[in-house]
Amino acid sequence: MVSTYGALVFLVGAVAMVVIAAFVSFQSTEPEDPKSVTQKVYRVRSLYFFLLLFVLVLAYGFTLPKAPYFRDSSPDVVVDVVGKMWFWELKPVKGAVLENGDLVLPAGRKVEFRVTSADVNHGFGIYSTDGYILTQTQAMPGYTNHLIYTFKKPGIYRVFCMEFCGIGHHNMFARIVVRKEGE
Ligand code: CUA
Repeated sequence: MVSTYGALVFLVGAVAMVVIAAFVSFQSTEPEDPKSVTQKVYRVRSLYFFLLLFVLVLAYGFTLPKAPYFRDSSPDVVVDVVGKMWFWELKPVKGAVLENGDLVLPAGRKVEFRVTSADVNHGFGIYSTDGYILTQTQAMPGYTNHLIYTFKKPGIYRVFCMEFCGIGHHNMFARIVVRKEGE
């Protein structure tokens, strides 16, 4: 037995199909020459292609030089960073010092961290005083990542390990004290 609901759905569907067919048939005009249609489509397509090309070239031109992969050869401060189970070894190379285990850096200077690991993969992450992540890179054995960062404001920054590296992972932190130059 067909339910009333089913019959209603069928009726509505049938009416909709008739209405759509009628609409399409009234809308249609003389068939267009397929050749001219093809040409029109090709023209629009090549226009879009060049537009896309233009946008991409512009986007790459503006953004690629800002990518962090270009080696900056003129850092004011250089620090070697070695991740070890489970602490950070921070070795000032140029323009920085160690004070009671804290790394002390000048504000407003371009700092290069040369980051590697002595054992497993670690994550070298630098956080602001209020706990926001500022920059990070991976510390990998047998490879050195170059992280460039300029600390604009004096203060106490923190380094945390960002990659689970074993039982002492949570102990891998260090302090970076940034001071106004000359203080
Ligand atoms: Cu080192 Cu987690």
